Amino acid sequence: MQFSTRYILLFSTALCLISSSMLSIAAVGLRDRQELNKVLDKKKSVLQACRLMKPTDRFSAEEVEAIFQNIEPKVLDLTTGTYAEGVDPKIFDPAKAPIAPAPKNSAQIMNMATQVLVYHVMKEGQLDMLVLPIYGKGLWGTLYGYMAVDADATTVEGITYYDHKETPGLGGEVDNSRWKGLWPGRKVFDEAGQVALKVTKGPAGPVDQDPHRVDGLSGATITSRGVTNMLQFWFGPNGYGPYLEQFRKNGSVQS
Ligand SMILES: Cc1cc2nc3c(=O)[nH]c(=O)nc-3n(C[C@H](O)[C@H](O)[C@H](O)COP(=O)(O)O)c2cc1C
Repeated sequence: MQFSTRYILLFSTALCLISSSMLSIAAVGLRDRQELNKVLDKKKSVLQACRLMKPTDRFSAEEVEAIFQNIEPKVLDLTTGTYAEGVDPKIFDPAKAPIAPAPKNSAQIMNMATQVLVYHVMKEGQLDMLVLPIYGKGLWGTLYGYMAVDADATTVEGITYYDHKETPGLGGEVDNSRWKGLWPGRKVFDEAGQVALKVTKGPAGPVDQDPHRVDGLSGATITSRGVTNMLQFWFGPNGYGPYLEQFRKNGSVQS
Protein backbone atom coordinates (compact mmCIF):
# COMPACT_ATOMS: atom_id res chain seq x y z
CA MET A 1 0.00 0.00 0.00
CA GLN A 2 1.31 3.49 -0.92
CA PHE A 3 0.97 6.46 1.53
CA SER A 4 1.18 10.07 0.45
CA THR A 5 3.92 12.32 1.86
CA ARG A 6 1.20 14.46 3.49
CA TYR A 7 -0.26 11.38 5.23
CA ILE A 8 3.19 10.28 6.53
CA LEU A 9 3.95 13.76 7.86
CA LEU A 10 0.57 14.10 9.57
CA PHE A 11 0.80 10.59 11.00
CA SER A 12 4.31 11.09 12.44
CA THR A 13 3.39 14.52 13.87
CA ALA A 14 0.31 13.04 15.55
CA LEU A 15 2.39 10.15 16.90
CA CYS A 16 4.99 12.58 18.32
CA LEU A 17 2.30 14.73 19.93
CA ILE A 18 0.52 11.76 21.50
CA SER A 19 3.71 10.17 22.86
CA SER A 20 5.13 13.45 24.21
CA SER A 21 1.79 14.22 25.92
CA MET A 22 1.77 10.75 27.46
CA LEU A 23 5.36 11.22 28.67
CA SER A 24 4.55 14.64 30.16
CA ILE A 25 1.47 13.28 31.93
CA ALA A 26 3.52 10.38 33.33
CA ALA A 27 6.35 12.71 34.44
CA VAL A 28 3.95 15.11 36.19
CA GLY A 29 1.88 12.29 37.66
CA LEU A 30 4.93 10.48 39.04
CA ARG A 31 6.72 13.56 40.37
CA ASP A 32 5.23 13.30 43.86
CA ARG A 33 6.05 9.62 44.06
CA GLN A 34 9.62 10.30 42.89
CA GLU A 35 10.04 12.95 45.58
CA LEU A 36 8.71 10.55 48.23
CA ASN A 37 11.12 7.86 47.02
CA LYS A 38 14.04 10.30 47.23
CA VAL A 39 13.13 11.16 50.82
CA LEU A 40 12.78 7.46 51.66
CA ASP A 41 16.13 6.72 50.04
CA LYS A 42 17.84 9.40 52.13
CA LYS A 43 16.22 8.03 55.28
CA LYS A 44 17.56 4.56 54.43
CA SER A 45 20.98 6.11 53.96
CA VAL A 46 20.74 7.71 57.42
CA LEU A 47 19.84 4.28 58.84
CA GLN A 48 22.77 2.65 57.06
CA ALA A 49 25.20 5.29 58.36
CA CYS A 50 24.19 4.52 61.94
CA ARG A 51 24.02 0.81 61.09
CA LEU A 52 20.36 0.38 61.99
CA MET A 53 19.94 -1.00 58.47
CA LYS A 54 22.25 -3.22 56.43
CA PRO A 55 22.72 -2.48 52.68
CA THR A 56 21.10 -5.86 51.97
CA ASP A 57 17.97 -5.05 54.02
CA ARG A 58 14.85 -4.36 51.97
CA PHE A 59 12.82 -2.27 54.42
CA SER A 60 9.43 -0.95 53.40
CA ALA A 61 8.51 2.72 53.92
CA GLU A 62 6.53 1.68 57.02
CA GLU A 63 9.51 -0.20 58.49
CA VAL A 64 11.78 2.80 57.88
CA GLU A 65 9.24 5.12 59.54
CA ALA A 66 9.00 2.73 62.53
CA ILE A 67 12.77 2.96 63.12
CA PHE A 68 12.62 6.73 62.60
CA GLN A 69 10.34 6.95 65.66
CA ASN A 70 13.61 6.90 67.65
CA ILE A 71 15.41 9.38 65.42
CA GLU A 72 14.94 13.10 65.98
CA PRO A 73 15.72 15.41 63.04
CA LYS A 74 17.20 18.79 64.02
CA VAL A 75 17.95 21.84 61.92
CA LEU A 76 21.50 22.90 62.69
CA ASP A 77 22.61 26.47 61.97
CA LEU A 78 26.24 26.16 60.90
CA THR A 79 26.88 29.86 61.48
CA THR A 80 26.21 29.46 65.22
CA GLY A 81 26.79 25.76 65.84
CA THR A 82 23.37 25.57 67.52
CA TYR A 83 19.90 24.49 66.43
CA ALA A 84 18.06 26.97 64.23
CA GLU A 85 15.26 28.74 66.06
CA GLY A 86 11.75 28.71 64.66
CA VAL A 87 12.51 26.16 61.93
CA ASP A 88 10.46 22.97 62.06
CA PRO A 89 12.75 20.02 61.16
CA LYS A 90 9.70 18.00 60.09
CA ILE A 91 9.00 20.34 57.17
CA PHE A 92 12.52 21.73 56.63
CA ASP A 93 13.69 21.22 53.04
CA PRO A 94 17.53 21.23 52.88
CA ALA A 95 17.32 22.13 49.17
CA LYS A 96 15.66 25.44 50.12
CA ALA A 97 18.05 26.32 52.97
CA PRO A 98 19.84 29.69 52.94
CA ILE A 99 23.05 29.55 50.88
CA ALA A 100 26.34 31.36 51.52
CA PRO A 101 29.75 31.25 49.84
CA ALA A 102 31.86 28.56 51.54
CA PRO A 103 35.22 29.55 53.01
CA LYS A 104 38.16 28.28 50.91
CA ASN A 105 38.34 24.53 51.32
CA SER A 106 39.97 21.46 49.79
CA ALA A 107 36.61 19.66 49.43
CA GLN A 108 35.92 22.14 46.58
CA ILE A 109 32.66 23.33 48.10
CA MET A 110 31.89 26.72 46.57
CA ASN A 111 28.52 27.60 48.11
CA MET A 112 26.97 25.89 51.08
CA ALA A 113 23.68 25.77 52.92
CA THR A 114 24.02 27.45 56.30
CA GLN A 115 21.27 25.25 57.75
CA VAL A 116 21.46 21.46 57.55
CA LEU A 117 19.34 18.58 58.76
CA VAL A 118 21.14 16.45 61.34
CA TYR A 119 19.75 13.52 63.29
CA HIS A 120 19.78 12.49 66.94
CA VAL A 121 19.54 8.71 67.16
CA MET A 122 17.95 7.94 70.53
CA LYS A 123 18.19 4.77 72.60
CA GLU A 124 16.04 4.37 75.73
CA GLY A 125 15.50 8.15 75.80
CA GLN A 126 19.23 8.95 75.66
CA LEU A 127 21.27 10.28 72.75
CA ASP A 128 23.06 7.32 71.20
CA MET A 129 24.45 8.71 67.94
CA LEU A 130 24.49 11.77 65.69
CA VAL A 131 24.09 11.43 61.94
CA LEU A 132 25.53 14.30 59.91
CA PRO A 133 25.33 15.01 56.17
CA ILE A 134 28.68 15.29 54.37
CA TYR A 135 29.55 16.12 50.78
CA GLY A 136 32.53 17.12 48.66
CA LYS A 137 34.23 16.57 45.31
CA GLY A 138 35.63 13.22 44.22
CA LEU A 139 37.07 12.59 40.76
CA TRP A 140 33.96 12.91 38.60
CA GLY A 141 31.63 14.92 40.75
CA THR A 142 30.28 15.55 44.23
CA LEU A 143 29.79 12.67 46.65
CA TYR A 144 26.85 13.05 49.04
CA GLY A 145 26.55 10.96 52.16
CA TYR A 146 26.22 10.74 55.91
CA MET A 147 28.59 10.04 58.75
CA ALA A 148 27.34 8.77 62.09
CA VAL A 149 29.28 9.42 65.28
CA ASP A 150 28.66 8.22 68.82
CA ALA A 151 27.32 10.55 71.50
CA ASP A 152 30.97 11.25 72.44
CA ALA A 153 31.01 13.23 69.14
CA THR A 154 34.25 11.68 67.95
CA THR A 155 33.92 7.89 67.58
CA VAL A 156 32.71 6.92 64.12
CA GLU A 157 29.67 4.67 63.98
CA GLY A 158 29.46 4.46 60.19
CA ILE A 159 29.63 6.18 56.82
CA THR A 160 27.49 5.90 53.73
CA TYR A 161 27.16 7.61 50.36
CA TYR A 162 23.78 7.87 48.64
CA ASP A 163 24.80 9.82 45.55
CA HIS A 164 28.08 10.03 43.62
CA LYS A 165 29.52 9.72 40.11
CA GLU A 166 32.68 7.75 40.89
CA THR A 167 33.68 4.81 38.70
CA PRO A 168 32.26 1.42 39.74
CA GLY A 169 35.12 -0.78 40.98
CA LEU A 170 37.41 2.24 41.58
CA GLY A 171 36.08 5.34 43.38
CA GLY A 172 32.65 3.67 43.40
CA GLU A 173 34.04 1.35 46.09
CA VAL A 174 32.93 3.99 48.59
CA ASP A 175 29.74 1.89 48.43
CA ASN A 176 31.60 -1.33 49.25
CA SER A 177 30.36 -2.85 52.53
CA ARG A 178 33.83 -4.20 53.37
CA TRP A 179 35.36 -0.71 53.06
CA LYS A 180 32.50 0.89 55.00
CA GLY A 181 33.06 -1.77 57.67
CA LEU A 182 36.55 -0.35 58.30
CA TRP A 183 35.13 2.90 59.72
CA PRO A 184 33.26 2.08 62.95
CA GLY A 185 35.38 2.75 66.03
CA ARG A 186 37.79 5.18 64.30
CA LYS A 187 38.18 8.62 65.90
CA VAL A 188 37.44 11.86 64.07
CA PHE A 189 39.47 14.11 66.41
CA ASP A 190 42.92 13.77 67.94
CA GLU A 191 43.78 14.61 71.56
CA ALA A 192 44.12 18.30 70.66
CA GLY A 193 40.62 18.39 69.11
CA GLN A 194 41.94 18.64 65.54
CA VAL A 195 40.33 16.66 62.71
CA ALA A 196 42.67 13.69 62.30
CA LEU A 197 40.54 11.12 60.49
CA LYS A 198 41.65 10.42 56.93
CA VAL A 199 41.71 7.88 54.16
CA THR A 200 45.30 6.81 53.70
CA LYS A 201 47.07 5.60 50.53
CA GLY A 202 47.33 1.86 51.04
CA PRO A 203 46.24 -0.08 54.09
CA ALA A 204 45.67 1.33 57.58
CA GLY A 205 46.02 -0.60 60.82
CA PRO A 206 43.27 -2.01 63.02
CA VAL A 207 40.97 0.42 64.86
CA ASP A 208 42.74 0.20 68.23
CA GLN A 209 46.22 0.78 66.75
CA ASP A 210 45.39 3.19 63.96
CA PRO A 211 42.25 5.06 65.08
CA HIS A 212 42.59 8.02 62.72
CA ARG A 213 43.21 6.26 59.40
CA VAL A 214 41.16 4.12 57.01
CA ASP A 215 42.45 2.01 54.07
CA GLY A 216 42.68 3.88 50.77
CA LEU A 217 40.54 2.73 47.84
CA SER A 218 42.93 0.99 45.49
CA GLY A 219 43.29 2.66 42.07
CA ALA A 220 41.19 5.54 43.39
CA THR A 221 43.52 7.93 45.13
CA ILE A 222 41.54 10.95 43.96
CA THR A 223 38.26 9.68 45.43
CA SER A 224 40.07 8.64 48.63
CA ARG A 225 41.54 12.13 48.89
CA GLY A 226 38.08 13.58 48.25
CA VAL A 227 36.71 11.65 51.23
CA THR A 228 39.56 12.94 53.43
CA ASN A 229 39.00 16.49 52.21
CA MET A 230 35.29 16.42 52.96
CA LEU A 231 35.94 15.07 56.47
CA GLN A 232 38.47 17.86 57.02
CA PHE A 233 35.91 20.42 55.95
CA TRP A 234 32.77 19.08 57.60
CA PHE A 235 34.34 18.26 60.95
CA GLY A 236 36.44 21.42 60.96
CA PRO A 237 35.67 24.95 62.21
CA ASN A 238 33.44 25.85 59.22
CA GLY A 239 31.42 22.65 59.44
CA TYR A 240 30.37 20.65 62.49
CA GLY A 241 33.49 21.46 64.57
CA PRO A 242 31.91 24.05 66.91
CA TYR A 243 28.69 21.99 67.19
CA LEU A 244 30.49 18.76 68.09
CA GLU A 245 32.82 20.51 70.50
CA GLN A 246 29.79 21.33 72.64
CA PHE A 247 28.92 17.63 72.80
CA ARG A 248 32.48 16.71 73.71
CA LYS A 249 32.56 19.36 76.46
CA ASN A 250 28.98 19.37 77.80
CA GLY A 251 27.39 16.24 76.34
CA SER A 252 24.69 18.35 74.67
CA VAL A 253 24.01 21.44 72.58
CA GLN A 254 22.19 24.51 73.80
CA SER A 255 18.92 24.89 71.85
C1 LIG B 1 38.16 5.11 33.23
C2 LIG B 1 38.83 5.52 34.50
C3 LIG B 1 38.06 5.73 35.62
C4 LIG B 1 38.65 6.13 36.82
N1 LIG B 1 37.87 6.34 37.92
C5 LIG B 1 38.45 6.76 39.05
C6 LIG B 1 37.66 7.05 40.21
O1 LIG B 1 36.44 6.88 40.25
N2 LIG B 1 38.31 7.52 41.30
C7 LIG B 1 39.67 7.72 41.34
O2 LIG B 1 40.17 8.17 42.35
N3 LIG B 1 40.41 7.43 40.29
C8 LIG B 1 39.84 6.95 39.15
N4 LIG B 1 40.62 6.68 38.07
C9 LIG B 1 42.07 6.72 38.21
C10 LIG B 1 42.60 8.13 38.27
O3 LIG B 1 42.62 8.66 37.00
C11 LIG B 1 44.00 8.10 38.91
O4 LIG B 1 44.84 7.41 38.08
C12 LIG B 1 43.93 7.39 40.24
O5 LIG B 1 43.10 8.08 41.11
C13 LIG B 1 45.31 7.25 40.86
O6 LIG B 1 45.13 6.32 41.93
P1 LIG B 1 46.30 5.33 42.38
O7 LIG B 1 47.44 6.22 42.77
O8 LIG B 1 45.72 4.58 43.55
O9 LIG B 1 46.58 4.46 41.22
C14 LIG B 1 40.05 6.28 36.87
C15 LIG B 1 40.83 6.06 35.74
C16 LIG B 1 40.22 5.68 34.56
C17 LIG B 1 41.09 5.45 33.35
